Amino acid sequence: MQEIQLHPGLKDVYLDKTESSFIDGGVGKLLYRGYNIHDLAEKSTFEETVFLLLHGKLPTRSELDAFDAQLRAGRAIPPQVIKVIEMTQKSHPMDVLRTGVSALAAYDPDTEDKSVESTLRKGVRLTAQAATIVAAHERIRKGLQPVPPSPDLGHAANFLYMMFGKKPDPEEAKILDVDFILHAEHGSNASSFAARQAASTLSDLHSAVVGGIGVLKGPWHGGAAEAVMDLVHHIETPEKAEAYVKSLTSRGEKIMGFGHRVYKAEDPRAQHLRERSRSLGEKKGQPQWFKLLQTLEQQVMAPYRAKGIFVNVDFYAGSIYYLLGIPEDIFIPIFAMGRVPGWTAQFVEQWQNNVLIRPLLKYVGPMDVEYVPIEKRAAGTAPKVGAL
Ligand code: ACO
Repeated sequence: MQEIQLHPGLKDVYLDKTESSFIDGGVGKLLYRGYNIHDLAEKSTFEETVFLLLHGKLPTRSELDAFDAQLRAGRAIPPQVIKVIEMTQKSHPMDVLRTGVSALAAYDPDTEDKSVESTLRKGVRLTAQAATIVAAHERIRKGLQPVPPSPDLGHAANFLYMMFGKKPDPEEAKILDVDFILHAEHGSNASSFAARQAASTLSDLHSAVVGGIGVLKGPWHGGAAEAVMDLVHHIETPEKAEAYVKSLTSRGEKIMGFGHRVYKAEDPRAQHLRERSRSLGEKKGQPQWFKLLQTLEQQVMAPYRAKGIFVNVDFYAGSIYYLLGIPEDIFIPIFAMGRVPGWTAQFVEQWQNNVLIRPLLKYVGPMDVEYVPIEKRAAGTAPKVGAL
């Protein structure tokens, strides 16, 4: 029999071609549709970047205005979905977001229309509505009324407005806008792979986004920003960082916010968040978080660079959300809100040259086992599931 070559975690396996994003993990380079992430982070807006990802080019002024109007018009969520949020309000915000997006499918006029045009329309609506769900949940679980979206504010500013009920400081809204840009798309990451897989079965975009949210929730993917702030709170002061990290690594635990499957140099997204974590900390009179993070990056974890382990996008993100007053369990939903455009772009891309995604598994269990009737089975002879 032919030797089967395994690819655990599909590491280094190219699944398909893409025009959505390019990553060179060796030098830390990231492009969306050919545009460098550094240019987009410094010069673009989330709205413009979403247009770029969904339509493959930068918009003209009038195209951007029309697209922005479409995003703003898509923000409302039906009262039935507010009810669903009320019913699930005690769950983790990621679970509420996943359930809310699933419920939105029941009220979206385009759910079953699987044309590319309709799917892009849904992608725009879901990008807008994800923010409304997360903010509405935060209000509801605090016993407050959800704040309706403001048509006068851009995407990031409107999210902060719906969360806190007052117009945000423009500088703070811009920091969140940059954060959304940095999270919008990223090759064949685990959640985008899930979205592509849904596309490959000819499922619909709501199902793909629900799948993406579920996959993103894990701490090895989107959950790291929350875990980093958790780590920071446990460490407390820079002086205790080294000993705390050693206690974790000696137990074989990984340090959250470090390492990446693709980047073996610094994640290019991190530098934009590092600088904003510093400036926001100073502005808020709380420089201690940045100081501790710097100690971790520049001193404690510096030896790991030789192994290709650098900070990733999540390392400084958590401190920014924290300084913006966002509860820690909403850090992952923020990542998800930013990633909806990337999931949509890849969902549509998968259809361009669709092949059902269906890898193989090498069977290593017993073969041709005799079926014993239940009354003749001896106790304790059942094979142990998961004991490979
Ligand atoms: N801390 C300490 N050691 C690490 C870390 C880390 N954060 N990340 C990797 N390593 C070590 C591993 O222990 C392993 O060492 P070994 O060769 O001595 O066994 C080596 O580096 C390779 O690591 P793998 O886990 O095999 O790399 P993989 O590509 O599978 O994992 C991952 C990447 C999951 C992101 C990992 O680095 C990790 O768990 N990091 C912490 C969680 C995190 O920050 N996730 C967010 C990723 S970014 C994002 O999804 C947006």
